[in-house]
Amino acid sequence: MKVTYHGHAVLSVVLDDGTRLLFDPYISQNPLADVSAEEIKTDYILVTHGHDDHISDMIPIAKQNNATIIGIAEVCKYAARKGIENIHPMNIGGGFDFPFGRVTLTHAQHSSGYEEDGQMIYMGEPAGILLQADGKTLYHAGDTADYSDLSLLGEQYEIDVAFLPIGDNFTMGPADALRAANRLKAKTVVPIHYNTFPQIKQDPQKFVAQLPNIGKVMNSGETIEV
Ligand code: NI
Ligand code: MN
Repeated sequence: MKVTYHGHAVLSVVLDDGTRLLFDPYISQNPLADVSAEEIKTDYILVTHGHDDHISDMIPIAKQNNATIIGIAEVCKYAARKGIENIHPMNIGGGFDFPFGRVTLTHAQHSSGYEEDGQMIYMGEPAGILLQADGKTLYHAGDTADYSDLSLLGEQYEIDVAFLPIGDNFTMGPADALRAANRLKAKTVVPIHYNTFPQIKQDPQKFVAQLPNIGKVMNSGETIEV
């Protein structure tokens, strides 16, 4: 699989069979995005939780691509209310074998809600996402804090690449992300969710320097083969 980082928590994945996946589409308002929401082509949209910096372009991109939204039940129900027909609701601890591979939602210690017309809409529990495809395992941690049960993921899965937030303030910061990386035992760790806003300014090089041969900074627009 080929994985491209688009800044913040946005990833696009192209699998060996050509299937395209998009994680946490926050693009048009994302100052770090290297693409426009209009030019994104995807078959599936996978969302970790309902905060606006993860789903702000979910509905328009789903509509323009006729893409299927995969996520926690409440986020999918929200999408259905917005006219999206192709949804696949899931919940924490559940996995499903899609035609392209297996997706499992994991715990994330965070919150989830979406403000619309002055009202906070309940968006279910926040999640992390495990993707098993092309014989590889990718873990997108979502906006989680570090917590001890991440060790269970490290025991149960051989994670090839883990995308971990390091921004602090809204998620774990670099020191906690280092602890999380040690729990997960991923072969490659890529920092995400930093430098988008002033509150989450971090030095990703300083973070990966503490994970020799494992940590990798991806610039927005950069692609890696997993
Ligand atoms: Ni969030
Ligand atoms: Mn976030």
